[in-house]
Amino acid sequence: METKIAEIADGIYRLSTYVPDIASPAGFTFNQFLVLGDEPLMFHTGLRKMFSLNRDAMSRLIPPERLRWIAYGHFEADECGAMNEWLAFAPNAQPAHGNTGCMVSLNDFVDRTPRTLQDGEVIDLGDGKKVRYLDTPHTPHGWDAGVVFEESTGTLLCGDLFTQLGDGPALTEGDVVGPAIAAEDLFRYSALNPAMGTTIRALAKVSPRTLALMHGPSFSGDGAAALHALANEYDRRIRPGTPNN
Ligand SMILES: [Fe+2]
Ligand SMILES: [Fe+2]
Repeated sequence: METKIAEIADGIYRLSTYVPDIASPAGFTFNQFLVLGDEPLMFHTGLRKMFSLNRDAMSRLIPPERLRWIAYGHFEADECGAMNEWLAFAPNAQPAHGNTGCMVSLNDFVDRTPRTLQDGEVIDLGDGKKVRYLDTPHTPHGWDAGVVFEESTGTLLCGDLFTQLGDGPALTEGDVVGPAIAAEDLFRYSALNPAMGTTIRALAKVSPRTLALMHGPSFSGDGAAALHALANEYDRRIRPGTPNN
């Protein structure tokens, strides 16, 4: 396996590892994002068993021990499994996640005290980069779920939202909603809930210009329109009597 690196917005890098055996023959990508700044932030740790692969990839961009913040979408192995490996390697790195996540998992799981973020709280990374944490409980899954928005580039680090199969380009202007619906049909990975459409639609208010998918290409374009379309699809799925829910 190799980890490919691409800059998907100014100072934001996608580290992508393609695993052909998952959902074969299309395969599946695992992506982490590095936001540069005086205090660099990584979104997702990657799987514990991929730690050395990701650390070596990051070292092509910055010395990994310079990492200051480690954030992620929700408590699962691909999102935060390698957290303690990163903390051992990067002495100044601190985990950062929402209230719920810190309370139910992170305070116990991590070897260094996390920073607990309120919904809407901003971390100033310096050098013009600011990230805002946004709670998205149970969306697409996980009580502790949340996303991060980088304000200067308009990049929404959207975790498992828009998950799709395959090893596409690092950045696309093409459709990201259709492939996400196909992956939902296959994996049934979302915790369908009545608030889901509303939660996704609320993210559109930040009008992202780039959507950084954890599993799939990053999308450049009208992020609000894509989020509205995804929200409409989940509204349809939770309607009583709808097939596919
Ligand atoms: Fe997940
Ligand atoms: Fe994921």
